[in-house]
Amino acid sequence: MSLAKIDPTTTKAWQELTEHYGNTKNVHLKDLFEKDPGRAKRFSIRWNDFFLDYSKNRLEDTTLDLLVSLAGEVKLRDAVNQYFSGSIINETEGRAVLHTALRAGRNEEVHVDGENVIPEVYEVRDHIRQFSEAVISGKMKGYTGKTFTDVVNIGIGGSDLGPAMVCEALKYYKNHLRTHFVSNIDGDHVQEVLKEVNPETTLFIVVSKTFTTQETLTNALTIKEWFLKTASQKDIAKHFAAVSTNTEKIREFGIAPENVFPMWDWVGGRFSLWSAVGLSIALAVGPDHFEGLLEGAREMDNHFRTAPFSENIPVILALLSIWYNNFYGAETEAIIPYTQYLSRFSAYFQQGIMESNGKSTARDGSRVAYQTGTIIWGEPGTNAQHAFFQLIHQGTKLIPADFIGYKKSLYGNVDHHQKLMANFFAQTEALMNGKTADEVRAELELKGVSADEVEKLIPFKLFEGNKPTNTLLIDRLTPASLGALIAMYEHKIFVQGVIWNIFSYDQWGVELGKQLASQTLKDITSSEISKHDPSTSQLLQNFKK
Ligand code: F6P
Repeated sequence: MSLAKIDPTTTKAWQELTEHYGNTKNVHLKDLFEKDPGRAKRFSIRWNDFFLDYSKNRLEDTTLDLLVSLAGEVKLRDAVNQYFSGSIINETEGRAVLHTALRAGRNEEVHVDGENVIPEVYEVRDHIRQFSEAVISGKMKGYTGKTFTDVVNIGIGGSDLGPAMVCEALKYYKNHLRTHFVSNIDGDHVQEVLKEVNPETTLFIVVSKTFTTQETLTNALTIKEWFLKTASQKDIAKHFAAVSTNTEKIREFGIAPENVFPMWDWVGGRFSLWSAVGLSIALAVGPDHFEGLLEGAREMDNHFRTAPFSENIPVILALLSIWYNNFYGAETEAIIPYTQYLSRFSAYFQQGIMESNGKSTARDGSRVAYQTGTIIWGEPGTNAQHAFFQLIHQGTKLIPADFIGYKKSLYGNVDHHQKLMANFFAQTEALMNGKTADEVRAELELKGVSADEVEKLIPFKLFEGNKPTNTLLIDRLTPASLGALIAMYEHKIFVQGVIWNIFSYDQWGVELGKQLASQTLKDITSSEISKHDPSTSQLLQNFKK
């Protein structure tokens, strides 16, 4: 089985959406609410400890019906079944896409090439538990008999961003182990991390699905050399662990077999934090919280698999995004979490979303004739308000934004939390309503500004409003709610890829960079420079001078 290859623009729903867009594009959200206050309730979904209000979108009942029909016409239901059951939906690499199997129940069955993979998944999950318990409790010790104080994750892309984002997000739940992340091939990055750790009490985890990534191998070798300045070769077994599909290469590196954690080619790098790639998470917050994260994701998987499209959070978010991207011509989307803990969240989903859906080849090999992957960006609120909100409020671009907030703060600082959330609600309201000339006039007159000055200022103080937002209100930031939140965006990616008729789970664009850099490295390290364009040749000559 493979995913259907349907150009979405040939569907009846797409034609109707195009017409519907023409008829409704100038309608203001404020008017939609005035006409129909009940839309707030109708365009909301309560699920577990999540409450999604998507009513502040340029959306009417007809829009939603048409978008749901579009999902039906491109055979989304069938695609979801294929996704969860291990079909080779990553066709260009000939692989299944089964990060969901990593969080499936122990008694479930998921088959790859006729074999149930769940027992293997649980073997690794049990290993993660046993290993992290031994490190946290101090049972496992470094080469001088001291307990571990620090963990360094060496990886890049999906082998770095997920664990780094989650360790930061779950900082409140952390134990005594300090976690560090070395990713960039920039030698200054590794040096800064090494400055902070002691070889006697540091555990290094080399994470690379392929174990061929230049950045990770270079950093791992540099760290090994640094370690061997004070320790001996045999001590590597006590201080290095590795996660990879390439167990042969791990052995060559000298890592002890009991510290090797396998992963599988049916887990994409950018969806791998649920596997042993998340070992640094299990170490930082303990295996129970790591399992809690997986459990939350599993619940979201179940919601996504079973809820009707019109009540399905990832489906709704994906459809709204398509509505803006393909009909309104919006190019970017912002993710604004109102919690400092999620400071790495949008950076994480920049890879998740842009590496997955940044494609221009349709599933039949032709070039798509419509827009695909959105550009993702964002920072936590309220900091974001003092950085880029000006452009969202008064700029010329339409930027749909997801606002993610929590009912309770973790430390229970009520005053701060009320102020934080007041900003959270006020911003989406202001983005929707804007401010009319009459409102600006009344405000200025009240301040005693002269009539002339008032008229001069009005155009600058006007806010058009009509800026769409989704508001996701979650009870508390827990491992489980974080797991569900991440899984929610993962499934949004999937739905959009299905509708855009692209392959979301390969990344040939990034592979090109890997090849190009290796040729250029030869030019830098040898006396000769091979043939390049005049600009690049000139730059290389200058660099080598
Ligand atoms: O950035 C490209 C990529 O292939 C990502 O998909 C992946 O997460 C990253 O490189 C790291 O790859 P690896 O885990 O094999 O070192």
